[in-house]
Amino acid sequence: MNKEKLEISIPSFLAAKKRNNDKIERIDYKIEDKYKDLGLGKTYAIFTYGCQGNVLDSENMAGILEEAGYRLAEDKYNADVVILNTCAIRENAEDRIWGVLGQLKGRKQLNPNMVIAISGCMPQEEGATKKLEESYKFVDIILGTHNRHHLLKLIYNVYEKKMRVVEVLSGQGNIVENVPIVRNYKHKAFVNIMFGCDEFCTYCIVPYTRGRERSRAKEDILAEVNELVKEGYKEITLLGQNVNAYGKDLGNDYTFGDLLRDIDKTGIERVRFTSPHPRDMDENAISAMAECKSVMPHLHFPVQSGNDRVLKIMNRKYTREEYLYKIKRLKEEIPGISITTDIIVGYPGETREEFNDTLTLVEEAGFEGAFTFIYSKREGTPAAKMEDPISDSEKHKWFDELKKAVDKGYLRGTERFVGEVVEVLVDGESKSDLGMMSGYSKHNKLTHFKSNDKSLIGKIVKVKVKEAKSWFMIGDLVE
Ligand code: 5AD
Ligand code: SF4
Repeated sequence: MNKEKLEISIPSFLAAKKRNNDKIERIDYKIEDKYKDLGLGKTYAIFTYGCQGNVLDSENMAGILEEAGYRLAEDKYNADVVILNTCAIRENAEDRIWGVLGQLKGRKQLNPNMVIAISGCMPQEEGATKKLEESYKFVDIILGTHNRHHLLKLIYNVYEKKMRVVEVLSGQGNIVENVPIVRNYKHKAFVNIMFGCDEFCTYCIVPYTRGRERSRAKEDILAEVNELVKEGYKEITLLGQNVNAYGKDLGNDYTFGDLLRDIDKTGIERVRFTSPHPRDMDENAISAMAECKSVMPHLHFPVQSGNDRVLKIMNRKYTREEYLYKIKRLKEEIPGISITTDIIVGYPGETREEFNDTLTLVEEAGFEGAFTFIYSKREGTPAAKMEDPISDSEKHKWFDELKKAVDKGYLRGTERFVGEVVEVLVDGESKSDLGMMSGYSKHNKLTHFKSNDKSLIGKIVKVKVKEAKSWFMIGDLVE
């Protein structure tokens, strides 16, 4: 169990913070001959936590493994290679990982040949990797976010050298194209358009774990979307830690709005994107959203706080008024648009009066949903050093109040469709209700309707809404 360790590189916050104009390397992925049969007769499992970026990374790691012969395990806890693709955004995300690792430890004792790998954002933190190395010696591979394309090499090292391998890169990152992929759905797909973040919001670990903002070439993105259209995909979600900063690093005038217009021309039926930064939501992006038929009338638009002082210490670079102005413009240009958001409660030093400004903003902005979070201290970020005098119980009270305000918005957002016919891209059978199928409407409302016709999966159908609940709508299929 206490194998020797091959330490190729460990994380460094100092290196992760660095931003310069060094040219970003574009790598073309190609499997090396010696790895082609690495997984023959073997199985794999991937546990994915956190954001949609991680979901896509996991789809890529599945592609890499299947190309080398690995097959998906039926029992996730008993695969030959088990990957935990982790999230570090808040402490509770990390707590879950330590829990799953505990379970895997027992399984590995029964099956010593199992290879356990940790990828994603957690290993990019100095403290987490140290803890993994020192106290979780049954973990064989620690790899982080920048080198998923090295996965086979790292597994090969474990097999050949019988060593644990640590390779976490903390540089600005690269762009790897043509990575194999096993997608979770046949009708909707994620497409990365940029990686990393240069915003450095003071609470956020992402700029340290995901590296510098770097955009894929538009030709690579359009080629991928064209391929998806050819394969029959109906919907794509464009991904980026700061998705609408697309192109800013490329040094030409081509921006996110231009990309939306070009993607629209590929013939893909539905386009969504996440997550945009309010500051970068410019008029070109708004008019592209309005003009492109494929761009769906829903925007997840993280605000974080409704108070100017808090926004400033968060380093969000916009005011409440500027944010509300963008909402106004979006509503003018895209009538009926549904807007959802992210909000942090209990920021270090936030007062009750300042929190009240967030409550009033929820009303004023007319959000139809929000992910709400209690502030979580992330070591290495500027906010971790700020005074934080408000007690946890007080923060929980504010959080509950906020949830009530947000829940009203959810219901308002579904009730407005009662009696209307909406177009639903069918995902599959409803998880909770037998005899029902479900999918999402254009405005991103989960919609259930009576049917057990599985041939509808992946098709866009018309549903007349007859009932609205906070989290979903129910309707009847319209012939
Ligand atoms: N504490 C609480 N919430 C956070 N988020 C990011 N960092 C933190 C943190 N340290 C939230 C923000 C962001 C979402 C993805 O997670 O609201 O938009
Ligand atoms: Fe984190 Fe988003 Fe701010 Fe970047 S823009 S630092 S990912 S909250």
